Order: sequence, then C-alpha cells, then structure tokens
Amino acid sequence: MSRVAIGNNKGGSGKSAATVNLADALARAGKRVLVVDMDPQANASRRLGWEYNPADPKPTLVEAVQAGTTGIAAQAIVPIGWRTAYADRIELLPSRFDLENRVSEAAVLGAVSRLDRALEGADDKYDITLIDCPPSLGHLTQLALAAANVAICTVEPERDGVDGAVRFRDFIELNRGELKNPDLRLIGAIPCRVRTGLNAHDHHMANLPLLFPGQVWEPLIPERTVIKDASDEALPLEALGSRAKEIISVYADLAARLLQELHA
Ligand SMILES: Nc1ncnc2c1ncn2[C@@H]1O[C@H](COP(=O)(O)OP(=O)(O)OP(=O)(O)O)[C@@H](O)[C@H]1O
Ligand SMILES: [Mg+2]
Repeated sequence: MSRVAIGNNKGGSGKSAATVNLADALARAGKRVLVVDMDPQANASRRLGWEYNPADPKPTLVEAVQAGTTGIAAQAIVPIGWRTAYADRIELLPSRFDLENRVSEAAVLGAVSRLDRALEGADDKYDITLIDCPPSLGHLTQLALAAANVAICTVEPERDGVDGAVRFRDFIELNRGELKNPDLRLIGAIPCRVRTGLNAHDHHMANLPLLFPGQVWEPLIPERTVIKDASDEALPLEALGSRAKEIISVYADLAARLLQELHA
C-alpha cells in the first residue's frame, strides 16, 4: 500500500490534473487506485465525474476527517462517474467546499493525524492512494502529508511555480517530524504545463535538476488544450479521441515511473 501526496504551494500548477490523469493511467495499467480529494475546491472530485446530491446527502471526506476515527474513510469512498472499461479500478474519497471547516479544528490534540487514522484499513485494498492537496501549506495539506508515505510535486516552470514547489519540498523536510511522519520525503518533481520554446520555461526547465537533483521526472507534461477539455467535461482523456493519444502516453510513462519508485 502506497499513499502519495501531490502538492505545490502555488495554485494552478497542475496538481489536480496530474492526480486525475495519473489515477487514469495507473488504472489503465491494471492498478486499483483511490483518489483522496484534500482540496475544498473539489476539482478532482468533479473531474472524476462525482457530484454531491443535496437531496440524498452522503458522507464525504469532510465527515471522515471530522470523525478522525480508525478506518472511517471507508464509509465515504464512492465509485467515480466515468464510463470507461477500467473506471471500476478507480474510487474516490470526495471533497466539498465545507472541507474548509476542518481547518478551525487544527489545534485540537491529534488533529493532524485525522486523515491518516481515517484511511487506516480503508485503503488497504488499493495498490495506490493519490492525495490531491490544495495549494496552501496549511492544515489540509498537513493532513495529507501526515497520512502519505511519499510526496510528489507538480512544477510549472515559471518563477512562482518553481518557488511553490521548493517551498512544498522544504516544508516536508522541516516539518515531517512534527507531522509524526519522519520518513516522508519528496520522490519526484513533475514539470507541468510546459511550453517548450518559451524562453522563461526553457530557462526554468534547465535549472530544475539543480533544485531537485535526481527528482525531476520525465516525460514532462506539456501545455495541451486536450487536458483542459477533459478536465472541463469531467471525462477521461480517451473520451476525447485521437487528439488525446500523445498525452495518454505521457501519463502512462509517468505512472510507470511512479510504480518504479514505489516498487509497486
Ligand atoms: N498540462 C496542461 N495543459 C493544459 N491545461 C492544463 C494542464 N494542466 C492543467 N491544466 C489546466 O489548468 C488549470 C489548472 O490546473 P489544475 O486545476 O490541475 O491545477 P491545480 O494545481 O490543481 O490548481 P489549484 O491550486 O487551484 O488546486 C485547469 O483548468 C486545468 O485543466
Ligand atoms: Mg487542484
């Protein structure tokens, strides 16, 4: 069992796109994947085709973290809404905007371990659990980091995107003891939304290996409208036909790298 937190202290760097499309690629490769949406924006939940039904309210990650009891997350895990052959290999611990209400409880003793406890036993049946972090380094990301075995960051090769990735990495190194997760480490930095040929992007891409020695994963994820379109329409990439072929193969290679790193 491997839990992977995906973060960057910069908004819009491609965290949720990477989470959803890595889940897609891992499931295509035959792996069982749980996606934990740790962001009150709930972008990953929506993109995986999940919708909250106020007429039939069901518990979500919001209630699971609030309870914080051992294994409680199992009661909030749902199938995703995609209709692909392999969709049943991906399940979701969905989020809602009111996940934000958990932040005010951060000072309660043991609060930071609530996700870790809630997932205990609940994610044993998956090969990999991917946790999509919000862009902050606050309590919600700390819950993810306390629960994860490893972390990866997405990096948009621009000054703020690179700085946000470095802050995420440094935050882990500085606070993993405090998070009661002393073995947590960043295993990969995935360049995202890359526009090759753009001077600023080429410059930052060339510098990345110095900032993240041995941790910059290949292939990079280029900026492509097909990724945005799949996100917008809450569809798997393959539903967009032949124009998704290149990107499906990029995520397949990245998923293979992740499995190799995890020995999974
Ligand atoms: N490689 C890409 N090419 C084109 N569009 C992309 C790519 N990656 C992400 N996007 C789009 O860019 C926007 C931001 O991406 P995404 O939501 O994945 O970032 P994020 O880091 O999760 O953002 P937040 O910090 O708000 O959670 C979305 O509209 C998404 O569809
Ligand atoms: Mg996001």
